[in-house]
Amino acid sequence: MSAPPSDSRQSVSGLGEPGQRLAVCPGSFDPLTVGHVAIIARGLRLFDRVIVAVSVNIRKQPLFSFEERTTMIREAFDNDPRLQVEALSGLLATWARDRGAVAILRGLRAAADFEYELQMAQMNRHLHPEVDTVFLPSDPGVSYVSSSLVKEVAALGGDVRGLVPPNVHAALMGRLGTRTP
Ligand code: PNS
Repeated sequence: MSAPPSDSRQSVSGLGEPGQRLAVCPGSFDPLTVGHVAIIARGLRLFDRVIVAVSVNIRKQPLFSFEERTTMIREAFDNDPRLQVEALSGLLATWARDRGAVAILRGLRAAADFEYELQMAQMNRHLHPEVDTVFLPSDPGVSYVSSSLVKEVAALGGDVRGLVPPNVHAALMGRLGTRTP
């Protein structure tokens, strides 16, 4: 029997070079929430590098531009050199494959997320089986937090402190022109 490899990551083909295992974390991030921050931070523990892929869907009118969303994400992670932020265009699976990613990282907040996420993961796997999807269950304390609800609540004057990082909160207050008492 041959000796096991010194680094188990080298023993399975297609998992990327040790030290260079890259995951892509896609989404709209309009804006970044504490739920996103937790998923990206966990991705940075599991992988060597993470690229946050900010969707620039021309059919959706975002509250924040791609540049604003990018700056907020970088700031929230203190410009961590292991984290890149890029614009996602075209097919996610191909985009991730072209960058050498081994995984697409998605957070699951509740069972309701699962059906759609499973369908996307299976379609992405059909397109490029070398890029797997990794689902991370969100922390129960933030499972109700979504970018769309945060925007709606903030626009109507509700308090969203603690649901988004402080820099995003400041940007939201500036953009929506409302102040939390
Ligand atoms: O934050 P969101 O809006 O839930 O993110 C959705 C996103 C960006 C992950 C999804 O819309 C996506 O993958 N878009 C890229 C286009 C694509 O690959 N479509 C086929 C999906 S199987």
